[in-house]
This record gives sequence, C-alpha cells and structure tokens, in this order.
Amino acid sequence: LECGGPTKSVLRGLRTCCIEWRGTPYQALLRDEVVARLKQLGNVSDANDFLQRTFLSPAAVKAGHLIEAWMQDAGLLTWVDDIGNVHGRLEGANVSAPALLLGSHLDTVIDAGYYDGALGILTAIAAVKVLNREGKSHLFPHPIEIIAFSDEEGVRFQTTFLGSQAVAGTFQPHMLDVADKRGITVGAALQSASFEGTVESVEKLKYDPASVWGYVEVHIEQGPVLEAQGLPLGVVEAIAGQTRLMVTIQGSQGHAGTVPMNLRKDPMPAAAQSIVAIEQLCTHSEKASGGSHGTSTMSTAANSAGNIVCTVGEIHSWPGASNVIPGEVIFTVDVRTKDDSLREHTVVSIEHSIQTICKGRGVTCTIERKHEAAAMSCGPGLSDRLQAAALTAMQELHPFQRSVSVVDQSQYDTISAPMLVSGAGHDAMAMSHLTQVGMLFVRCTGGISHSPAEHVLDDDIWASSLALLRFMEGVLGDLSFLNM
Ligand code: GLV
Ligand code: MN
Ligand code: MN
Repeated sequence: LECGGPTKSVLRGLRTCCIEWRGTPYQALLRDEVVARLKQLGNVSDANDFLQRTFLSPAAVKAGHLIEAWMQDAGLLTWVDDIGNVHGRLEGANVSAPALLLGSHLDTVIDAGYYDGALGILTAIAAVKVLNREGKSHLFPHPIEIIAFSDEEGVRFQTTFLGSQAVAGTFQPHMLDVADKRGITVGAALQSASFEGTVESVEKLKYDPASVWGYVEVHIEQGPVLEAQGLPLGVVEAIAGQTRLMVTIQGSQGHAGTVPMNLRKDPMPAAAQSIVAIEQLCTHSEKASGGSHGTSTMSTAANSAGNIVCTVGEIHSWPGASNVIPGEVIFTVDVRTKDDSLREHTVVSIEHSIQTICKGRGVTCTIERKHEAAAMSCGPGLSDRLQAAALTAMQELHPFQRSVSVVDQSQYDTISAPMLVSGAGHDAMAMSHLTQVGMLFVRCTGGISHSPAEHVLDDDIWASSLALLRFMEGVLGDLSFLNM
C-alpha cells in the first residue's frame, strides 16, 4: 500500500492510518498533494507562455473554482464573497468563538512563479485537511477559516490588497472608481464578473474584529536569507511599508526626423533623468540612514544592504514608435522601507525632484500616489507560537530530509526558525488592521521570486504545512490544558 496511491473508495477507511505511513508525518497530504496542486494551479494562466492571473481575470476565476473544490475536499464549507475572495470554513468546537483565519492570495504578477500566494493557500488547505481527518477539527477552540484573497499583487489596478482590505474593513469606496489600463474600473470589473460592485456590497464584507482571533499566512520568503542560513523556515517579525506612484509626463508629440533637438518638448529624456534621480535619492537615503539595524534580518538582498529600496518597474510611451517623439511617458515608482518617516521623506523628495526636472525641460508632470501601506509588526504571541511550531516541524522532518535541511547537521539541535523582516508586501499587512497576524516564511531557491524561476523544495513545502499543522495543534493543546 502506497501513500498518495490509489486510495479509492475501498481504501478510504484506511486513509487515516495511511497518511502517517512508515512514520513519515503526513507526507502524502502535507507534501505530495500540495506539490501536485501547486503545479496544477501554476498552469491556470491568462497567458499561453507564462503564468499571469490578475484580479478577476478568467484564469483568476478558474483558479478560485479549483481552490474552492480543494477546500471542500478538506471538509470546509465554502463561498465566494463579493470581491472574489474564496472562503472555506470549519466551525470547530465553539461556533461563536473568534476565528483563526489562514490564507494568502490567488492572483499573480506577470510571468510569475508557482509559489507566491498559492503556497499559503495550499499549505493551509493541507494542514486543515489533516486536522479534519485526524478528527481534531471539531475539538478546535476556534472556527478555522481559510481565505484565498483575490488581489494582493495590484498588477491590474496598482491598488494592492483589494481582497484583504475588504475583509479587514479598510477598503476605501473611491477604490471602486480606479481604472485599469483599458479604462475598466474596479466596480465595473466586479459587475462583469457577476458581483454587485457597489460600495455597500464591499463594505458588508468587513469582519467584526471581535469575531476574529488572528490571521496566519505561510509565504515563500522571496529573498535569500533562509537559504544562506541553511534553514527551511523562518518567522516574520515585521513587514516594510510601501508607496506606489504613477508618474505621467506630457510633452509635445512630433516627427523624429524634423524637429530640431533644441525645439523639442520630449517627455522621454525627462522620464530617464527622473528615473536616475530616483535611484540616486534612494541610494543616498540608504547611506544617510546608515543601513539596516537590529537583530532581525531583512529578507531581500536589496534591503539587507540598506533600509530603503526604490524600483521603476513599468514604463510606457505614447504612441510608442521609433520615428515619433513621444507625446506622453508614464512610469511607476515603488518605494519600500520598514521606516515610515524615511519612506514619506523619500517620496516627497522624489516628487520634488521629478517636478524640478520636468519644469527645467518644459514638459508637464502629474504624480499620483496609487498605494500606501504603513510598515507593520507581527503579533509577538503568534510569532512565538509559529517559531515553536516551525522548530518542531524541522526537527520532526530531520530524519527524512537530512540532505537538505541545514548547513551543519551537527548544529541541528540548537537551531531555531530565524526572525525576518519582509521587504515584500503581504495580505497580512491589510489583515493587521483587523487582528493580530503571524507569518511563516519558507526558503526559496536563490532568493528568486516574481519570476518563473521561483522554486521551493518539495521537502520545504512539507516543513511549512507540517509547521502550520503543529501550530494549530499547539492552539488545541492550550485549550485541553486550560480545561484540565
Ligand atoms: C507583492 O508581492 C509585493 O510585495 O509587491
Ligand atoms: Mn505574495
Ligand atoms: Mn508577489
């Protein structure tokens, strides 16, 4: 009998003993099934040649259906809410107790990897499935709810966290009027996906803080620190704040062959000069503030060198032809640091610098702040529990994963899951306005993310879903202790 093999109807009764076959802790459900589902979900894309799922796109809707079916398979009661989040819930021992929320996002960047977002949803489904199959979920002191959030990346509307902000109650009504590149607003996109798309329909998604105990998210680290330390799991201590700008520079469109250089009002060199100025300002801010301090480690290469990172990742010119002086150039700016006052100071300097450059070149410039999120800290209580659960999982899996777990095997008994600061944004940031949050980071190969080269070892996936299971069992254990 093989775990993960043909456990059809006749074998169903044996499944409970099968899932811990040969002492491997739930390998078939916590590792193999998650790995297979990550691949399946990674093939649900709006593009033929790469992975792309943006807010409410056909692939995002299809991914939502798949996730909902997997939640049902885990024994959860499911529904899709009015902003496209997919929910699955188990009531536990006390339906009126505040719920433990687990989750991550189902949308992706353009040309994405398989793990960003999906890992947190699928490890949560796997851990809850085991808890349910072990007959422990109905004893759990809190309802457990998994949420697959519909928008975290903000690729389509530049406004991240549409899904989690609605649940946290921080969704701003004006966000329904924000338009994508084709002029479709968030409200219209919701309506064409058969949702109401009204302020009332989104506002009613807000959870009462008293109904929630905490939010826990598993996520690929997206940086190189865990790999460098030779550890599969870390715990997030804080998440850097971020600002996203959209800069529109307008000049005078013309013929590339006939307008002399001194008579041009070309927005492209103004954009180029602005982008170099942004790089210099952020490099200067890093030096001025002396780089990162403290005991935790920043989880991106850029942040480990200093404490502010600025990126121009998207640029468009109109009309975009080699023989036309552009009439308009639009580019984005993404600014991140865990120091909110440094971020505000740097953004104001960037705005001032771009306006000065544009003025000097006789072109006009509009700068919109598309997104702002303050830096946040994870709940120390949840982080302690996650750290203990991660350590338990790493130690339990050590006999099965000797080749990949730690750099120096002799140090295994003294390791712990390190505390990290996340340079990447997460739904946990939005959820921190509702409840205490905790995050578990999972080692990724080469620190690479937002790329098809993104990769997490199968055994590290196992470690993360086992840690989540042990975390929930720890909460369950507390209650039995209190009841004694
Ligand atoms: C999301 O992945 C972000 O940090 O931009
Ligand atoms: Mn993510
Ligand atoms: Mn991402």
